[in-house]
Amino acid sequence: MRHGILVLLAGVCLSGCQPAERFGPVPTAKEPAKKERSHDELKKHWVFLQPKEAPDVPIVFVPNAAPEWKNLTRFWNLEPSPALGARTVHLGQAPLAVAVGLAATLPLDTIKIKVPLGLPDPTPHIPPGNPPTFAKWRLGKRLFYDRIFQSGPDRFSCATCHQPEHGFAEEWAVTLQGQRNTLSLLNVVYNRQQFWDGRVGSLEEVLARSLEDELPVDASDSTAKRQRTHRWGGLVKTLAGDSYYQFHFKEQFGIFVPTQDAIAKVLATYMRTLLSGGSLYDYAEQERQARGAAELSAPHFSRMLDAATQKALGVPKEKSEVIADRLERGLRLFHGSARCALCHKGPLFTDQDYHNIGIGESEEMPVAGEEKGRFAFVPIGMKQTRLIGAFRTPTLRNLPRTYPYFHDGSRRSLKDVVNYYDHAVFPSAFLAQPLRAGAHQSIELNLSDRDKEALALFLRALDGEPVDPIVLEKREK
Ligand code: HEC
Ligand code: HEC
Repeated sequence: MRHGILVLLAGVCLSGCQPAERFGPVPTAKEPAKKERSHDELKKHWVFLQPKEAPDVPIVFVPNAAPEWKNLTRFWNLEPSPALGARTVHLGQAPLAVAVGLAATLPLDTIKIKVPLGLPDPTPHIPPGNPPTFAKWRLGKRLFYDRIFQSGPDRFSCATCHQPEHGFAEEWAVTLQGQRNTLSLLNVVYNRQQFWDGRVGSLEEVLARSLEDELPVDASDSTAKRQRTHRWGGLVKTLAGDSYYQFHFKEQFGIFVPTQDAIAKVLATYMRTLLSGGSLYDYAEQERQARGAAELSAPHFSRMLDAATQKALGVPKEKSEVIADRLERGLRLFHGSARCALCHKGPLFTDQDYHNIGIGESEEMPVAGEEKGRFAFVPIGMKQTRLIGAFRTPTLRNLPRTYPYFHDGSRRSLKDVVNYYDHAVFPSAFLAQPLRAGAHQSIELNLSDRDKEALALFLRALDGEPVDPIVLEKREK
């Protein structure tokens, strides 16, 4: 773009920046040729600014509720154009190779993604300015695993912190206004706002802002290694010097130099396909619906418990009826006396709201202007004291993969989390209403050991199936 503007200015100058004369320069014999040349140049660059209409394949999401869902055979379904009729294509190849081969050679109509069981339709959560397509997705995937960021002597990628084998989260936190535990990117498409404090709206904005806040890392600082943040200084420049990205961004967006906008679009497109559902809970819920039962109960869980599922739950040796009873107990506590569902509600187990639950809080009252959490980021005129020290209610899907827990990563096990809610909630000044038991007191749930065990087991049952291999890369590049 910038290049184009420079050329445009150069073009204007060629025709207009002559020594000042009231009615323009006296025409000379050479003048027309000059004009001709600059016009051509301009035209070339205008064309170059138009996004090239590279053949691309849209990606559509097919949710459980769609009648078509049942007929789709796998996560990633390719559909050849009806005009071409049925084709036997690249049998025996890995699905991605088929996808790449097909997109390059056949005018495919659509790639259909079979949304995992239990998850809502992602489509309404995708901004109209960035419809998902195969070429964007492929570029985003490549970028996600590429070690293109530098911090001190370190090179790293998105996947260094958002580790696929760790539910796209990690064990550590980064320093950013205090410790922040890396958020899982699984099912990130459904977030209303992003980050623990919701400081940005769309996924595109996360990336564009992270690129904008280009804080140079001080290489002479010996702690620089540990000072990785969500800020990626110099990324646009790095990509501009890489022939792979030059070629593909040109093909997709008509620009040689990847812009922040384009980078944000491709990465967001990739992240929207990181879906994980199909948990034991979802299958039990499907069973309940099939049987027309009013409430989810032990028999629905029981029918879904096989050896592999029990192993994943961490209870390989116990009788399935005993486990099913425990799951029902956990479910009842979750929706009942333990009050969890007051905030962790809906299919993603989050109200997408922000609450102070006492984590990271102390006796000290916050200094005006230095309040932590959501409060700092809501616009002036919209501030509510309940948002002081409040963080986003996280989804409870995939917890066994995404430890440690809470925004500061301060609890390492689900048992610790349950114990916290049971009797250790810090009675902070702005504690959320459901966790209060009086003006300066927090609730005590008085759960028995059996209750706590049941609640933790129920949380484990919300862990989804592994992400489809097509969206994964085995290692960083
Ligand atoms: C140094 C570790 C690190 C790297 C590298 C990193 N992230 Fe993050 N990411 C985090 C942390 C920590 C958070 C939570 C920060 C917060 O809430 O303040 C986060 C949050 C996010 C979120 C918000 C998720 C949500 O649920 O709100 C998105 C999206 C995201 N990262 C995408 C990316 C992408 C894409 C890349 C690569 C371009 C990347 N991250 C690289 C550590 C990292
Ligand atoms: C008042 C609303 C509210 C209630 C009630 C509530 N939670 Fe939470 N939960 C939150 C918020 C907000 C966070 C993130 C807080 C933070 O990190 O500061 C959270 C975090 C969690 C986490 C950590 C998830 C992660 O990825 O780090 C788990 C697990 C959890 N809650 C389970 C439960 C259970 C189990 C119950 C019932 C005993 C419960 N919650 C009750 C709002 C609530």
